[in-house]
Amino acid sequence: MTALGKLLRTTAFRLTLVYLVLFALYAVFLLGFFALNARRLVTEQITTTVDTEVSGLAQQYEQGGIRRLVQVVDIRSRRPGSSLYLVATPTGQGLAGNVSSLEPGTLGQTGWVETAYRRLDAPEGSEHHALVRVSELPGGFHLLVGRDVEERERIYDIITTAGRWSMAVVVVLGLGGGFFVSRRILRRVDAITEKAQTIMAGNLSGRLPVAGTGDEIDRLALNVNAMLDRIESLMRGFKEVSDNVAHDLKTPLTRLRNRCEAALRSARTEEEYRAALNSTIEESEQLIRTFDALLMIARAEAGEGGRYMADFDAAEAARGIGELYEPVAEQKGFRLVVEAPGPAIVRGNQELISQALANLVDNAIKYAAPASSGANAAPSTLQILAGPDGDHVVLTVADAGPGIPERDRAHAVERFVRLEQSRSLPGSGLGLSLVSAVAHLHHGELRLEDNGPGLKATIILPRAGPPGSDAITSGMD
Ligand SMILES: Nc1ncnc2c1ncn2[C@@H]1O[C@H](COP(=O)(O)OP(=O)(O)O)[C@@H](O)[C@H]1O
Ligand SMILES: [Mg+2]
Repeated sequence: MTALGKLLRTTAFRLTLVYLVLFALYAVFLLGFFALNARRLVTEQITTTVDTEVSGLAQQYEQGGIRRLVQVVDIRSRRPGSSLYLVATPTGQGLAGNVSSLEPGTLGQTGWVETAYRRLDAPEGSEHHALVRVSELPGGFHLLVGRDVEERERIYDIITTAGRWSMAVVVVLGLGGGFFVSRRILRRVDAITEKAQTIMAGNLSGRLPVAGTGDEIDRLALNVNAMLDRIESLMRGFKEVSDNVAHDLKTPLTRLRNRCEAALRSARTEEEYRAALNSTIEESEQLIRTFDALLMIARAEAGEGGRYMADFDAAEAARGIGELYEPVAEQKGFRLVVEAPGPAIVRGNQELISQALANLVDNAIKYAAPASSGANAAPSTLQILAGPDGDHVVLTVADAGPGIPERDRAHAVERFVRLEQSRSLPGSGLGLSLVSAVAHLHHGELRLEDNGPGLKATIILPRAGPPGSDAITSGMD
């Protein structure tokens, strides 16, 4: 597309054209109205003047006959700036007046006529137009009285000329303005388009230019930039995840494969094969769990779990988790304390929240187990607390184990992160990531604190308002 074509196609230019046409129509209407009215006014003036003169002259005729009329007309004709007069015989012979020639047939009609005429004292060829009234007097004489309409035509001309000129000025200014505005806008749109293309070509860190005027183009650019920020951070997260997945799934898969190979090479008896197969199944199950956790995190982060939101009692869910883990906890040497006096209503996905709580309990059992779990060892306390706290609901799992040093707490929540001291225990490093993702999905947060000794992990969720209130659900879907 040529530059001019592009310019003509802009909304700004089209709008200018529309306004131009509207304005021009308005101007035509206004000037036309003026011109016609001015003309009518002048015509009215002429007819009134002439009517008065005619009735005056008719009176003279009535009183003194044709002789008197001729005398009066003769005197009036000689006055400077006088009207046009002609008294003629029934055959059209001029008796008195200041008109030397008329359009043929003018005297034949009566009433108002527009005609070309020449004054007696005017040189040959200088014809003018006049509006005249012809009347027939008793006895067949003709009386013509009229006035020149030159003035009327001049006023009309002045107005129409002014109209034409102003129209030309309007069109020139309008088109010029349209071009100017469109070019300015086009330049900015072009800059944005150009930048957008480099961004699309792969430079995701680029941002659209913002002029700083705060106009609509700026606002659009700012919003697109905010969107790009979000896309960039999502892309970065996505890349991190896929890198991590590739890295962290490769290790167990390789281990799996090596174990199978070793079994093939060295196993002799059925027992040995069985053992190899069993450990393969275990390893695969761990892998499947990792995949499940990853999928769950991805879904929670994409806000997908938000579709199954409902009000439920988190305290009851906490008691359920307590019951579920009680046998394992006791077997590992814990004294499990569940303090969850209900109700603590939250609006959310019960399955995800229970899973998050289970992850925390699972961690506590795994990492805070007393060193010797013999019958005489002192049991370590593991607390599950749930309840409302102001306009929040808190779900806490606290143990008395080694805890997480403060500097590692933010790191431990990241995907696939397992702290150095935990490498010997099974796990994928996704447990806390899921808890955090679930908390965020519900507009809440996961807080890791020192339990002196041990770890105190708390999920803080917004408390559901009274039925019908959507204070918490707003913006979730
Ligand atoms: N209760 C806890 N006590 C001490 N360390 C913990 C506790 N919970 C989590 N951690 C540390 O945080 C890391 C991340 O936990 P998580 O995301 O659940 O992964 P995983 O349990 O699979 O290792 C763990 O590897 C561990 O080092
Ligand atoms: Mg874990």
